[in-house]
Amino acid sequence: ATENVLALVVGYLIGSIPFGFILTRLAGMGDVRKIGSGNIGATNVLRTGNKGLAAATLLLDLFKGLTPVLLARLWYPDAVGWAALGAVVGHCFPIWLRFKGGKGVATNAGVCFGLAWPIGLAYAFVWLGVLAGSRISSLAGMCAVVAAAIAAAVLGYEDYIAVLVVIAVLIIWLHRANIGRLMRGEEPKVGAAK
Ligand code: G3P
Repeated sequence: ATENVLALVVGYLIGSIPFGFILTRLAGMGDVRKIGSGNIGATNVLRTGNKGLAAATLLLDLFKGLTPVLLARLWYPDAVGWAALGAVVGHCFPIWLRFKGGKGVATNAGVCFGLAWPIGLAYAFVWLGVLAGSRISSLAGMCAVVAAAIAAAVLGYEDYIAVLVVIAVLIIWLHRANIGRLMRGEEPKVGAAK
C-alpha cells in the first residue's frame, strides 16, 4: 500500500508541472488560460500562433506521463497503475495552478507508451488518425483515450484495463464543454483562425 501511495504522489507531482503554462509565460505571451478554451494543453498553446511552443508543450506533457510510469515499472512494478493515474490527475488538477490544469490527452499518451508500447501505438494511431480526418483535437483525444482502454483489453493487458477506464472517464468528463461544442457544431478545428 505504501508503494501505491508513493507511486500516486510522485506521479501526481510530476504530472502537475504545467508545461504549457510555463512555456507561454517564459515566451512572454502572458497567461495561456486567458486565451481560447482557457486550457493549458498543447491545443490551446497552438492558439497563441506559436507552433514550436505547442509542439514543445505536447512533448513535455507526454514525457511527464511517460516518466513516472517507467520509474514505477523499474522500482514498484505492482504500483504502475497508480503512477499512471497520478500523472494524469496531476496534469488535470495541478497543485501549482490551484488544481485547474489541462485535459490529460498528451499526458495519457505518455502513460500509455509507458504501460506497454502496443497500447501507446494504438493510442497514437487513433489520436493522429482522427485528428488527420477531423482536424478536431478534442474529438481525436477522446477517441484515443477510449481506444487505449479497448486496446488493453483486446491485447491482454488485464492489469491496465481498470486504470485506463478510470482515466478515460476522467478525460471525457473534462471535455464536457468540448462535447457541448461538438454537438452544436461549434468546436474549432486545429489551425482554424480564432
Ligand atoms: O487535450 C485537450 C484537447 O483535447 C482540447 O483542448 O483547448 O480545444 O479544449 P481545447
